[in-house]
Amino acid sequence: MEHLRSLNDVSPDEIRDIIILAKGIKADPASYDEALAGKTLLMLFEKPSLRTRVSFETGMTRMGGHAIFYSIKDSPLGKKENIHDTAKCAGRYVNLIMARTYRQEDIDGLAAYAGVPVINALTDRHHPCQILSDLLTISEKKGSLKGLKLAYLGDADNNVTHSLLLGCALTGMHIAIGCPAGSSAPAEDVVAQAKAYAQTSGSTITITQDAAEAAEDADVVYTDSWMSYHIPAEEKEARRKLFMPYQVNAELMRHAKPDAVFMNCLPAERGAEQTAEVIDGPQSVVFDQAENRLWAQNAIMLTLLKKSFKSFKKS
Ligand code: CP
Ligand code: NVA
Repeated sequence: MEHLRSLNDVSPDEIRDIIILAKGIKADPASYDEALAGKTLLMLFEKPSLRTRVSFETGMTRMGGHAIFYSIKDSPLGKKENIHDTAKCAGRYVNLIMARTYRQEDIDGLAAYAGVPVINALTDRHHPCQILSDLLTISEKKGSLKGLKLAYLGDADNNVTHSLLLGCALTGMHIAIGCPAGSSAPAEDVVAQAKAYAQTSGSTITITQDAAEAAEDADVVYTDSWMSYHIPAEEKEARRKLFMPYQVNAELMRHAKPDAVFMNCLPAERGAEQTAEVIDGPQSVVFDQAENRLWAQNAIMLTLLKKSFKSFKKS
């Protein structure tokens, strides 16, 4: 893997290796405290963030490196400079770039011209760091990935849904999406790509307008904000009506397996995509999920910088 622009950049074997490495770092972080000594990460942000910004910056500090936060609104990008010039200059200073942008094309442009590895830290289209972290969480909670069923409910024309489709299909997890038809369904090209991966891994992809059918016998029930960062605030009421039949509440959770876990990448709105009873209840793993951003991203950064486990693990 040279970049992480989307989960199309990782093979099933690389996903497995990232999860193994992340578990190793989590179990023994002190052994990695110099793993990225002398390395610098540039973090370009065009949208807000809590988890992504803090976990990447902390991850670099804990591995002996340095992270620079750079808000695109403070940059000449898009005003006096194009993405190619930004990429070519930044790549002369730093070892690694992560970026959270609206357009997927901007991540692709950075990767094409920076000359250093580029990580997609969320675009309107994909959120690969989130889903690699989530696969770590699911593997911890369930022991394995292949053959499990993940149900996703709500807004499915969505970065998290798209990356879940690819991540599940690559790892042999079945995915069932319950969402309204039309413009809130996942993008057709992402579904087609996921179906191609699923043919190899043996997983299945179901897209239904019936929330209960999607949740039936699921091992993992997952939802995401109905108001993603790029959605205009004036759409809130209309979207609330559209997605309410897909709210994850106690009644919906009863369709899943009794030991199913509930996940949300956060930020979350109680009373919208899920009830407080679910997100604050015993099946919710959302804070373990948030913590795992740190461990999985450390593994992603080490992998992209081609740091082999043996070369930096102490002892
Ligand atoms: N889940 C996630 O990416 O959170 P932030 O938007 O806070 O980074
Ligand atoms: N779909 C959400 C994910 C937030 C981490 C958004 O784009 O805002």
